[in-house]
Parts: sequence; C-alpha cells; structure tokens
Amino acid sequence: MVTLSLVALQKGRMIGNIIFSPVNIESPAGKFPALGLGPLAVIPSCQKRGVGGALIQAGVETWRIAGHPAVVLVGHPGYYRRFGYVAAAALGLTSEFEVPRNIFWHWSLNRAPSGEEAARSFINLNSTRSESRSPPPVATSEIQV
Ligand SMILES: CC(C)(COP(=O)(O)OP(=O)(O)OC[C@H]1O[C@@H](n2cnc3c(N)ncnc32)[C@H](O)[C@@H]1OP(=O)(O)O)[C@@H](O)C(=O)NCCC(=O)NCCS
Repeated sequence: MVTLSLVALQKGRMIGNIIFSPVNIESPAGKFPALGLGPLAVIPSCQKRGVGGALIQAGVETWRIAGHPAVVLVGHPGYYRRFGYVAAAALGLTSEFEVPRNIFWHWSLNRAPSGEEAARSFINLNSTRSESRSPPPVATSEIQV
C-alpha cells in the first residue's frame, strides 16, 4: 500500500519519484506506526543535481508536519547518512525481514530539517505543505531549475 508518492517534474517531464508506505516499528518501548521510504529514483540524466535529496526532504517534511513519528528505510549507507538517517539497530529497532544492519536506517521526525533547511531544496513544497494530519495520497512538486 502506497501512502504518499511525490513526483519531481521539470518542464512537465517526470524526472524523479519517491514513495512512502506504512510500516510498524518495533522498539524496546513497543510497536508503533511509521513510514517506510522507497523506492526512490531519479532518471540518470538528472542525477547529482539534488533532485533525490529534494524529494527525500519534501517527503520527510510532509510527514513531520502531518505529525508522524519516524521514517525508516533500507538503502545505501553512503547516500542516506547525509540526510540525517541513523542506524536503526543503534536504536534497538528490528525488522521482520533479514536486513543487514548497515543498510537499515531510521529518521526520527523530531530531527527532521527545519523549514528553512527544507526550503533550500529545489522542490517547491507549496503543494505538499499542509497542516492536516492526513496529507493527500498523491502529491506532485515541480523542480525549479
Ligand atoms: C540514488 C538516487 C535516487 C540519487 O538521486 P540524485 O538526484 O542523484 O541524488 P542527489 O543529487 O541528492 O545526491 C547525489 C549524491 O549522492 C551520491 N549517491 C548516489 N547514489 C549513491 C549510492 N548508492 N551510494 C552512495 N552515494 C550515492 C552521488 O554520488 C552524489 O554525491 P555528491 O553529492 O558527493 O556528488 C539516484 O542515483 C538513483 O535513482 N539511483 C538508482 C535507483 C536507486 O539506487 N535508488 C535508491 C535505492 S536505495
């Protein structure tokens, strides 16, 4: 089940996409609902221009505003660490799947980037910002390059 799909557009052309789906986090404190990030993809000709990072920031900001507690993902350490993700195992989190410790990540939304930091991204967040606890099931944002 997909909870949120963000699409990066450049001159009307889709160049990137990120998807968030519901997951349950198990921690020593108990089980609670959160979001799973993935997949994330940017077309090769538009990579290394901040599009992937902007999609991550826009998605996480949407969930922070909506009041959700955390985002988890399975992905490359070299890429996701730079966005503030921390090793899930370090927090005592487990997965129902066999996931190597070094690619299982957690981001507490209390540590999400501030509005000012998020605004530095290329993504226009206007269509994703909301005071509602229930963001639209599908939102699109246009890349400003
Ligand atoms: C991963 C991906 C979404 C990044 O998109 P992007 O728009 O290029 O990302 P950004 O511009 O925000 O960041 C680019 C930086 O991430 C680095 N990077 C990209 N993929 C990486 C990886 N797998 N491991 C480590 N670093 C990575 C780039 O080298 C670049 O580094 P630099 O800033 O030092 O030059 C894109 O490379 C992609 O679509 N890859 C194929 C699908 C994929 O692997 N998705 C992630 C699954 S976990």
